[in-house]
Amino acid sequence: MTTVLDVQRFKDEGRRFAMLTAYDFLSARILDEAGIPILLVGDSLGMVMLGYPTTLPVTLEDMLHHAKAVARGARQALLIGDMPFMSYQASIEQAITSAGRFMQEAGMHGVKLEGGGRVVEITKRLTEVGIPVMGHVGLTPQFVHQMGGFKVQGKTEAQAARIKADARALEEAGAFSLVLEGVPSKLAAEITASLRIPTIGIGAGPATDGQVLVLHDMLGLTTGKAPKFVKRYANLAEDIARAANEYAEDVRTGRFPGPEHEYSANGAAPAPISKSQGPPRTRGEASEFVGSEEARYGG
Ligand code: KIV
Repeated sequence: MTTVLDVQRFKDEGRRFAMLTAYDFLSARILDEAGIPILLVGDSLGMVMLGYPTTLPVTLEDMLHHAKAVARGARQALLIGDMPFMSYQASIEQAITSAGRFMQEAGMHGVKLEGGGRVVEITKRLTEVGIPVMGHVGLTPQFVHQMGGFKVQGKTEAQAARIKADARALEEAGAFSLVLEGVPSKLAAEITASLRIPTIGIGAGPATDGQVLVLHDMLGLTTGKAPKFVKRYANLAEDIARAANEYAEDVRTGRFPGPEHEYSANGAAPAPISKSQGPPRTRGEASEFVGSEEARYGG
């Protein structure tokens, strides 16, 4: 299993690494089996999965619900739960309680917090009680209204100096890694070179130790113009629409269901179902493939 020590080793050995967001059981299992070392249950799920315009409405309960599903799907990856807006800002006690729930109830191995300043002290206290913390500076979406929108941060000298100071302070407070989001590549390179802990960039150029993308962006499930920093590795929105249309057309014309999808009265399927065609993996326990005929229809 990937641990925070492995993530440090990646940096020490100059091995660049990938992190992706995951919000549900199936995608967690696929990404985990694909060998992605870190899965982030990001509060971006508010926008991607729940349709909110920002991450601000996401609650701790929303996050725990998704984090539990991810933990059921993943076996190898380091799992990080994103602390949602107002789950840690009120007090150190609130932060410890919220982070503790990610670890104890949702099976996360660490948490991510946005911002510097007051968050530095929170990071220190969480680390002291045994909760690994991933920091997050630069474009911090929970500050969207203070930033006047989702805008690249650190373009001015004053902003850049503040982000550098926050990055240093978070490392000193015990953060095991740091997300750098939406900052100029040069600033990200300087911070990465100056820190002992690994940096993970998103919209921060090529010099960070790791990279993170929102899964639905890189799969082309989110539609419309992608932000500049996103590389699309698939066009699943198009694939899904095409498959749905094909299915609807098959239903309309009577091509589906065919004989191979039917049951007969004596329990035997009229036509054999080949193994490679097996039923969809949609139900059962996290640890096994249990999408069998029995599991779905009671035999
Ligand atoms: O919520 C999220 O997905 C994130 C990553 C983009 C870093 O914070």
